[in-house]
Amino acid sequence: MVGTVDPMLQPPKIGDKLHHEIMIRKIITFPDPILRKEAKPVTVFDEALKVLATDMAETMYKAPGVGLAAPQIGVSQQIIVYDLAPEGEKGQCTALINPNIVEGQGKAIDEEGCLSVREFSANVERFEWVRVEAATLDGKPLNFEAEGYHARVLQHEIDHLHGVLFIDHLSSLKRTLYKKKLKKILMEDKENES
Ligand code: NI
Repeated sequence: MVGTVDPMLQPPKIGDKLHHEIMIRKIITFPDPILRKEAKPVTVFDEALKVLATDMAETMYKAPGVGLAAPQIGVSQQIIVYDLAPEGEKGQCTALINPNIVEGQGKAIDEEGCLSVREFSANVERFEWVRVEAATLDGKPLNFEAEGYHARVLQHEIDHLHGVLFIDHLSSLKRTLYKKKLKKILMEDKENES
């Protein structure tokens, strides 16, 4: 990946210099309307932003997931975190603020799932290569290229900032089938509660 500049967010430990107890946040799932809101750009790059990104990283690792966008924990701000390393080698989390796909090329189809879309995965077509503009947690501007799996994760997570889920890229038939399946899951949840 030529020209990739990844801001690394060290995996935080409880009691580190942020003086912050890590909070695992609740992950919001479809069809919650929060997931459909357009997230606001971050304008203040302060300690609270780092705390939020740290919580997001921990929530993602706990789930476990490859990436997480702020709207998935009910925060309508343009923040994503991800870690592409295979299970067992994770710990170097990337945080991007106000990320945008500014260029995309090629087509690739591969399977995707999402922490906000329960018990479902499907093939999704994405750009094979993208150029992304973003900022680091300190507000430094970034401009980098990504391809393959990295490009896919970026497109999936950035979609979340615009209220878009991977199921929106599927045919309406597949989406309808998923909604039926989800209805069943939600009914089973209710039965188990009572
Ligand atoms: Ni997702």
